[in-house]
This record gives sequence, C-alpha cells and structure tokens, in this order.
Amino acid sequence: MTVGDRDRAVVAEWEAHAAWWRREFTGGADEEYVEQILPLVEASLPARGTVLDLGCGDGQVGRYAASPARCVLGIDAVRSQLTAARAVDGPLFAQGAIADLPVASSSVDAVVCSLVLEHVADLAGALHEVARVLRTGGVLVVVMNHPLLQTPGSGWIDDQVVEPPEQYWRIGAYLREVTTVEEVDDGVELTFHHRPLGRYVNEAGDRGLRLEHLDEPAPPASHLERYWNFSRADTIPRLAVLRFRAG
Ligand SMILES: C[S@@+](CC[C@H](N)C(=O)[O-])C[C@H]1O[C@@H](n2cnc3c(N)ncnc32)[C@H](O)[C@@H]1O
Repeated sequence: MTVGDRDRAVVAEWEAHAAWWRREFTGGADEEYVEQILPLVEASLPARGTVLDLGCGDGQVGRYAASPARCVLGIDAVRSQLTAARAVDGPLFAQGAIADLPVASSSVDAVVCSLVLEHVADLAGALHEVARVLRTGGVLVVVMNHPLLQTPGSGWIDDQVVEPPEQYWRIGAYLREVTTVEEVDDGVELTFHHRPLGRYVNEAGDRGLRLEHLDEPAPPASHLERYWNFSRADTIPRLAVLRFRAG
C-alpha cells in the first residue's frame, strides 16, 4: 500500500482515533448514520454487483449495503479500523490507500466514499483510482460534509444585539480551499480539506465520472432536538450525497 506523503499524517490520526470513531459513530451510536447516511447510500447503489467501500472504517456502510446480490469489499488505510471491521461477520476487508487501490481496472459496479474525501489530500489521485476501477456504467456514491454550508467558520449566530433579535447561519470562506486541523471532540484532532463543491464535481467529471444526482437532506429530527436549538435548523443541511456515473 502506498499512502502519498500528504496523506500519511491523516492515516496516523485515524490510527489514533479509530476507537473514538467506532464508539461515537458506529453500531447505532449516531442517528445521522442510522436515519440518513446508511439508507441514502443503500438507495443510491445498484441492486446487484460488486461494491467497493473506500475508507470503510469499521465497515458499517459496507455491512449495511451487503446483500446476497451485492458483494462488498471494504478498503481502509488504517489497521485498527480493519481489525474492528473483520471482528464482525460480513464483507471482506483489505488494507489499501484510496489513491493506490489493490483492485483491477474496470472490475467493480459501484464505489462508496462515506465521509472520506474531505480527509484525503490527493483528491485527483483518489478520483483517478475510482474511475480506473469502475466499469463503464458503474456508480460512485460520495457522502460528505456539505462543502458550502459546512465550510470552516460556519455556524449559527444568535444575534441578540439587533432589534428584533435574529438567528442566522453564517457561512465561512467558501471559495477558499483550506486544510484545517479541527478538535472534533476532547483530544481528537482530525485533518479536513475544504474544497468548493465544484472542485469535486469537476475533478470527477475530468475523469469521466458524471454527476447524476445530489441529495441535501435536512438533519434528522432526533439530531435537531439533541444539538440545535434554532427554529430554522431544519433548513440547513449538514450532508451532501452525490451520485456519479462512469461514462
Ligand atoms: C470519517 S471515517 C468514515 C468511515 C466509514 N466510511 C463510515 O462512513 O463509517 C474516515 C475513514 O477514512 C479512512 N481514510 C482516510 N484517509 C484515507 C486514505 N488516504 N486511504 C484509505 N482510507 C483513508 C480513515 O482511516 C477512516 O477510517
């Protein structure tokens, strides 16, 4: 497995925080996964064929997508994620870097990248590999933090100074591509690469992956109740789910 220089630090971060990820986001711990990400991915995939779950983590997406008609292979660069993935019955899992996949060209029907590409520095290399392994007519499903509405520096503003008081969602510097290291939980620092949405669409398009569908779901009701005490929180999506078709 060859992880590019720029992605080596990210792999080390995930090695350190794999247990945190599993505890907070997998096995039913996170309503956004249970109510949105898993069903949206499942609905975006072809009903049968070979599916690669890239940056699979502990394998929750691949396990959910697997069926008698769908053969899933999960790939992740991080050993501790794969150890957890293999501890549960289900798909096969292999170690690999997203920009250097141990997979034959034109051999798979679908690829899923769930909350992965925003951690990958070499976006062009990753999409080149995805395009290489997908057969003609195959599907790429990308789940990501919404690049516009979750730009670094975005968030609710509760302005009590103006009369009447206003609550609004501030958007950060959307057009500025920036790499940030964010403390997402106590002692958990992760690298994120912010890019405008057009960068993803155009990098994919340049490699023959044509955007077919975009979902921008409202946050699930349980999430709104738990985290956001703003009356318009259901109007600001946290996620974007993109489906591309290999031409
Ligand atoms: C936010 S987690 C998402 C895990 C899984 N896709 C899910 O939705 O449950 C990001 C995953 O991407 C993996 N990852 C990050 N950079 C990678 C790279 N360059 N190659 C392969 N995996 C990578 C990390 O190890 C981590 O497991």
